[in-house]
Amino acid sequence: MATKADKRSASYSQIESGTERARPILHQNAREIQPYGKIAKLPIALDEKLCAASAENLNQVLADTMTLRDLYKKHHWQVAGHTFYQLHLLFDKHHEEQDELVDMIAERIQVLGAISLAMAADIAETTIIPRPPRGREEVPVQLSRLLEAHEMILKEARTMAGRAAEAGDDGTNDLLVSNVIRSNELQVWFLAEHLVDVPVVHADSAKAAALGR
Ligand SMILES: [Fe+2]
Repeated sequence: MATKADKRSASYSQIESGTERARPILHQNAREIQPYGKIAKLPIALDEKLCAASAENLNQVLADTMTLRDLYKKHHWQVAGHTFYQLHLLFDKHHEEQDELVDMIAERIQVLGAISLAMAADIAETTIIPRPPRGREEVPVQLSRLLEAHEMILKEARTMAGRAAEAGDDGTNDLLVSNVIRSNELQVWFLAEHLVDVPVVHADSAKAAALGR
């Protein structure tokens, strides 16, 4: 009777000798090569503890940026009203810009020798941005929700950028300042101007009269 080892060597020789070599080897499994939270140090002249601290901070910004990115797509699809077209396009533009930030942040975490968060369930557990309802919301509510999320990210990114600069992690500081903070501030401006209550066609003559003009 063929032993398990015989079976293994028989299948190996089949693979080596014929068309079996072209067959994909499916359903493979093994232990992960690096557990989450551990550093696989790269030669980037940064202390391992500093890499771990920066990566932990960046994973928080990553989770919040992924959530904001997805909030933009939700609003891109669900926006309603007379500003539908411009907001539909603006929300998608910001979504794309946030998606670029997601990649930059995740890859910085990998450069630090750490592991970036990736999957939706892990993001949902980590983000500090409140979960929106599944249903549609009015434009002012959508805009308020986005502005609040931007401000949360800006607040944490500023604190973390300061810490990275003090500790000597210039790469992380630069990413947070030049990319995360600058992009989020600009997007806040574009959104916030939609919430200024100015007349669309007629100047507000009643208000001007009350002010004695
Ligand atoms: Fe679309």
